[in-house]
Amino acid sequence: PTVRLEDYRPSDHLIDRVELDIRLDPHDTRVTATLALRPNPVGRPGAPLVLDGDDLTLLALELDGQALGPDAYRADPSSLTLSTPPQRPFTLRIETRLDPTANTRLMGLYRSNSVYCTQCEADGFRRITYFLDRPDVLSIYTTRIEAEREAAPILLGNGNPSEAGAVPGTGRHYAVWHDPMPKPAYLFALVGGRLDRVAKDFTTMEGRRVEIAVYVEPGKGDRAAYALDAVERSMAWDETAFGRAYDLDVFNVVAVSDFNMGAMENKGLNIFNDKYVLASPETATDADYAAIEAIIAHEYFHNWSGNRVTCRDWFQLCLKEGLTVFRDQEFSSDMRSRAVHRIAEVRNLRARQFPEDAGPLAHPVRPKQYAEINNFYTATVYEKGAEIVRMLRTLIGDAAFRAGMDRYFAENDGKAATVEDFLEAFEAASGRDLSRFAEWYERPGTPRVAASGSYDASAQTYRLAFRQTRPGAGADAPPLVVPIRLGLVGSDGPLDAATSERVEAGVFVLEAAEDAVTFENVAAEPVPSLFRAFSAPVRVASSLDDAARLTLLRHDPDSFNRWEAAQRVALGLMARQVRGESTETADAFVAALGAFLDAEALHDPAFAAQILALPSEGDLADEIGTETDPDAIFSARQTLRRRLGTGLRERLMSLRETLAEPAGTPFSPDAAAAGRRALRNAALDLIAAADAQAGTALAEAQIEAATNMTDRLAGLATLALLPGEAREAALTAFAERYADEPLVLDKWFAIQAMIPEDGTVARIRRLQSHPAFAMTNPNRVRSLIGSFSLANPTQFNRPDGAGYALVAETVLALDGTNPQVAARLMTAFGPWRRLEPGRRAVAEAALRRIVATPGLSRDVSDIATRSVAG
Ligand code: ARG
Ligand code: ZN
Repeated sequence: PTVRLEDYRPSDHLIDRVELDIRLDPHDTRVTATLALRPNPVGRPGAPLVLDGDDLTLLALELDGQALGPDAYRADPSSLTLSTPPQRPFTLRIETRLDPTANTRLMGLYRSNSVYCTQCEADGFRRITYFLDRPDVLSIYTTRIEAEREAAPILLGNGNPSEAGAVPGTGRHYAVWHDPMPKPAYLFALVGGRLDRVAKDFTTMEGRRVEIAVYVEPGKGDRAAYALDAVERSMAWDETAFGRAYDLDVFNVVAVSDFNMGAMENKGLNIFNDKYVLASPETATDADYAAIEAIIAHEYFHNWSGNRVTCRDWFQLCLKEGLTVFRDQEFSSDMRSRAVHRIAEVRNLRARQFPEDAGPLAHPVRPKQYAEINNFYTATVYEKGAEIVRMLRTLIGDAAFRAGMDRYFAENDGKAATVEDFLEAFEAASGRDLSRFAEWYERPGTPRVAASGSYDASAQTYRLAFRQTRPGAGADAPPLVVPIRLGLVGSDGPLDAATSERVEAGVFVLEAAEDAVTFENVAAEPVPSLFRAFSAPVRVASSLDDAARLTLLRHDPDSFNRWEAAQRVALGLMARQVRGESTETADAFVAALGAFLDAEALHDPAFAAQILALPSEGDLADEIGTETDPDAIFSARQTLRRRLGTGLRERLMSLRETLAEPAGTPFSPDAAAAGRRALRNAALDLIAAADAQAGTALAEAQIEAATNMTDRLAGLATLALLPGEAREAALTAFAERYADEPLVLDKWFAIQAMIPEDGTVARIRRLQSHPAFAMTNPNRVRSLIGSFSLANPTQFNRPDGAGYALVAETVLALDGTNPQVAARLMTAFGPWRRLEPGRRAVAEAALRRIVATPGLSRDVSDIATRSVAG
């Protein structure tokens, strides 16, 4: 059943208050929901009441205190209907029975390591009780949770705690939570279990005292300190950056080990995949620390962008997700290096969103229809959605942007809003017409902007002409509003004297299909630096040669574009190698990187590490676009890695020495220390690419001496690419050392899944029966199978189809128990159409076998059918 945006209409009924009484039991949980309902003044008068359900068992039903006879309603596992509900406010009391232990889908109420927890977004609340499970029905919730005290000493709900006590003579106890803020059902949550707690107080700018607490598996309290600190920093930052204060007396974060996604912003009770909470130097990498900081912030920021202002319907998902990603990116940029973080954001966008937008699963940032909403929590909605918010800020400027945000929150507080409501706030704040800008939400596909420049030496002018096109867009598609942050760079540095009337605060706004700017006072032929800081999510086609790009690497005041210049040169070299063309400019590239390292590596190691990290195989496939051969791509990348490793060897060796932490230095996860580790490890990667023997020795020594997971894992990752005894010994030692650390073993699974060798499929099949592997745990599945399908292009795309078969088997094996995770794994097939014909046929056959499998979940069949359609 396809749901369409154009079919939206308000609910015929509203639910003002919800009282829940939930008696937890491993197999026989009883839920009594008392709903205060009334007809919606803007609904259809006399309409039937149809409550959503999913897999529910109804035990009892009362209307205004009277048991309802069998003729008065119809109930099945997926709905509860009253065909002639009262035309006035009334109360329904609904009792349902659940089996949380049998809930393998991890939606609704389930158990993770025997902790009771919930996940309701997008439509899991209907697996707890019959309800109007849609985001525009907002209610005030009071929840009584009861459980055996021994099994669940901690009982948490949304809002503030109001009452707790024993159930006399039973060994059970209860807690009552009241949430004063109206919210949609998808933000409901509860937790019951045995958990350790770390906490600290925070006083908001409004003077409210808040107790922040993080709950984790018993014995892991010391690994929650960083997450707790990140909550505190997030609260403080949202006050200064956006004027947003927290609004309850408690803010709870709970880490659970079985979780379908990263985390969830339930009101006052965020529930997290423990991977994004638990950190210690021994078990977490610098990347883990950064992800924890970002996701803690993301979920916290949802308190305003998502919870106080929520979405009218699921088509508006980007309204909360794109905006909240933008907000967490800004937070991380302020906590760390803005330039380095921007590079990471763009790497991620290009790795996940660009291919999605170029393949069969492409969709607008605001989709127009869906069969299964859980399949639309995508890079497009999240990351491209965030880029749209960022472009908006670039267009109207910081001050108007902040005023618009204030206005958006003020006007929509307590409401379920739309993208139109969002844009309206910025129109009012800036006085600018944003109706054409809104087109960014409406159509899929990454736009392409071609730029060409011409210099007039006698007039001392430089003319830059732009042309925008959109793949697959018809002739009727209006041009997009594209903010281009730009400047000119000469052979000795930026040409600051050059100006243009059409460029304001460094930004030219391209609004037509074609347009041009002319700069005056241009003393010599310049190199244009375009889309600084990646000012729009487009592909840029420009005819700059390598020498011009290396000028940007040397002199562009925009750090992002310096990095971009080096990436473009590397991509060009690799693409030419794939096509069998000359790569003679490689030496100039190596020399330029050498000069860069000499001048700057020690001054900004994190940035230097980004410069050294070559575009991925995926980046290259995306660049080539059609008829890709993953083996040719792999070997082109290897060749360039080897060339850099050979040409820069002395420098890389000496950087490793200089940047080594003196023995006894205490571990710090901060950006500066992480940057030094990143550069040392980027150097290790290149050295090993050029010289396996030296690489092996360095990696072994690094593992031996490592005092933190970043260095240990980097050593192991280096060895993983070097077949032989040393690798197998290191893998065995690592597994023994971390036998009791599931999150660390995930890294071990992933490293092996990414080995670009023939034996990997067989290795993964062996690992599937490793005692630490479990199909029931989403993190294990993603580590072993997800890493393989997404980050091992040569083996996933084996010409014999063994890689596709492995993933297809896993998808089908998982579909019966956890369709959401199964569907997510399926998305790895997305880019199949851009493969060369042999692999394309094999991939298509694998996809068609999945499509033809009887009894598929809606989740998997939606992805599979869209993947082969068109
Ligand atoms: N709202 C959550 C977040 O972005 C993610 C929920 C994902 N839900 C889903 N059904 N896939 O923080
Ligand atoms: Zn989110």
